[in-house]
Amino acid sequence: MGFYFEDGILPEALPKYHLVFMRLFKGCPIQFPAQHINYAALVERSSHMSPKSRQIIVTSALPYANGPIHIGHMLEYIQTDIWVRFQKMRGHECIYICADDAHGTPIMLRAQAEGVTPEVLIDRMKIEHQQDFSDFVIEFDNYYTTHSEENRYFAELIYSRLKAAGHIRTQVISQAYDPKAEMFLPDRFIKGECPVCGTGDQYGDNCENCGATYSPTDLKNPVSVVTGETPVKKDSEQYFFKLGDYEEMLKTWTRAGHVQKEIANKMAEWLDEGLKDWDISRNAPYWGFEIPDAPGKYFYVWLDAPIGYMASFKNWCDQNQHDFDKYWEVDSDTELYHFIGKDIARFHTLFWPAMLHGAGFRKPTAVYCHGFLTVDGQKMSKSRGTFIKARTYLEHLNPEYLRYYFAAKLGSGIDDIDLNLEDFRTRVNSDLVGKLVNIASRCAGFINKSFDGMLAGSTGDNGLSQQYIAASRDIANAYESREFSRAMRDIMSLADRANQYIDEMQPWVAIKDEARHGEVQVVCTIGLNCFRQLVILLKPVLPRLASQAETFLNVDALNWADLETDLLDHQINRFKPLMTRIEPVFIERMIEASKEALIEENKINAGSLDSSIEPIASEITIDDFAKLDLRVARIVAAKRVEKSDKLLQLTLDIGSETRNVFAGISGAYEPEALEGKLTVMVANLAPRKMRFGVSEGMVLAAGSDDKELYVLHPDSGAKPGMRVS
Ligand code: 2FM
Ligand code: ZN
Repeated sequence: MGFYFEDGILPEALPKYHLVFMRLFKGCPIQFPAQHINYAALVERSSHMSPKSRQIIVTSALPYANGPIHIGHMLEYIQTDIWVRFQKMRGHECIYICADDAHGTPIMLRAQAEGVTPEVLIDRMKIEHQQDFSDFVIEFDNYYTTHSEENRYFAELIYSRLKAAGHIRTQVISQAYDPKAEMFLPDRFIKGECPVCGTGDQYGDNCENCGATYSPTDLKNPVSVVTGETPVKKDSEQYFFKLGDYEEMLKTWTRAGHVQKEIANKMAEWLDEGLKDWDISRNAPYWGFEIPDAPGKYFYVWLDAPIGYMASFKNWCDQNQHDFDKYWEVDSDTELYHFIGKDIARFHTLFWPAMLHGAGFRKPTAVYCHGFLTVDGQKMSKSRGTFIKARTYLEHLNPEYLRYYFAAKLGSGIDDIDLNLEDFRTRVNSDLVGKLVNIASRCAGFINKSFDGMLAGSTGDNGLSQQYIAASRDIANAYESREFSRAMRDIMSLADRANQYIDEMQPWVAIKDEARHGEVQVVCTIGLNCFRQLVILLKPVLPRLASQAETFLNVDALNWADLETDLLDHQINRFKPLMTRIEPVFIERMIEASKEALIEENKINAGSLDSSIEPIASEITIDDFAKLDLRVARIVAAKRVEKSDKLLQLTLDIGSETRNVFAGISGAYEPEALEGKLTVMVANLAPRKMRFGVSEGMVLAAGSDDKELYVLHPDSGAKPGMRVS
């Protein structure tokens, strides 16, 4: 057994290779700390030594079935899909599993608001999600739902095994209850004032203003987001998973290289604080699986969500005649990787391994966390149009632009990734169009026109191909260790070399000289072979471009091993442009469309129970209200403001004087429709200097977006100048 290790990059994964090694050297006094093993090198060498390919299960987090996929989600699916495609190209069996996360209160309430059953909602969402993923060229081996019989089976099995082993206990606890909706309220469905800083409109778990974390019962003046009622406290018996029973196991697991170092540090903090038992039950009404021996109690959505990985995999096994146990038994020598966002690390690195361990299943080989996505340096924002749904993106841009950009930014750590829209445009244009596709378009014309599409029979030793093969080893290691940005940088520097070579050889000059035609054929054959190698190296990231390139090159599906061969004396097809440049207007239109999508969403949500309805602001006193001087005003003139698509300039008569007011209502009203009408204005608002002049007050209107605004009018009989109180 010839495994050996090199110092180098940090491997978070410690699959069976490591265990075998440790077993072989049991009793050996030398320690091999996980962080000193170069996992990528290990895999590379082990695969040379044994023809046996690895058996790998890979998962991405299961998206909730109550909303659309957006580009923040896509970061994870693209990262995982690239890794999976890389493994498959290397000849490994790699099964990519996912599902919709179909249970929980938000889904139940959304279905109610839409007037449909949860089943109807989750079925529709699943279809939409799968279409989005497929259009982003994400290729799952199985995409299922947590609302499945397989998932019920495994949830019950795991629960009953944990219970039988004494790891479940019950306790009566007091929780917030909405007496009108007759339901217990999850933390996110209670709002109120922060108990620490007093800021209003805060959720029941933490304050966005001061960052304090607390329990919803600590909120001052709490209200139910479902009905607006004040929640009351109500006792009920709940089921707890005794996480503390797994403290030692988790301490060992944390240090054994299954998670990134930042996550291991976080886990050490959680473990030092002491592990609290985890409430895995919810009271009816709840949308989920009822706990077998507890009528009216349901498994909390986060219990059956990760079990959904197993259930989806079982569903795949049944369709593909595979043995489920071989992958999930305690001593399995297959590998299991979960790709997730750092916000859900606790569920995957504490609860999930403990549940698996306690129920007699294998634990994950590694949990790989990524950071959040920001757009132009800020949190995605609906009003700025940077909360971009997958569908909106797809309607404006090629999915492979984003796949490439994310790859160019992704490393193996948990740092946030910024989608800078201008950098995105220039990077894609310069790397993919300017460097990669350019090589093919520069060479294909000569081969097609002057050589009937035939590549040269030999190219001599130009050195490029060997340089590419040599570089491909590091690139493979970078893919393996999720250092995609390093892989993209190295690949683009190979593309630069090919372009430099073509620049130096100047085939466009040589073609003018009949005697040098053979030289042109060789130069372009070398160029196209470089292009072919680059396509192989980029295929995990750009599968669609790779498929078009395979058609153009007239070759079968390319794999990693094809890097080592050349295409010689081979007929290629006519070249069609493989990718076009991103124009600024494409991005502008996508942003505009995202803003419009928000308006549509608000219309759909209007009047529903959806939590996007603006909650009631924090309480004020009558004295606070008295500070406002509201007056009836007649709109004597209204006109559009030049160079502003939002503002109307209003001249308001308030009895004693006229006021000039700029109001952001031009999306909702034609100026002439307002002239002569009465309205209400805030008359004692400090004047505000604007680009177009001074605004001397504010008219009152209902609504929250530019197009859906309703100016307030007093009942007939009111006179300009009357005070509103
Ligand atoms: O945070 C989320 O969006 C969850 N739906 C992820 C679940 S991942 C797994 F545990 F199922
Ligand atoms: Zn606060």
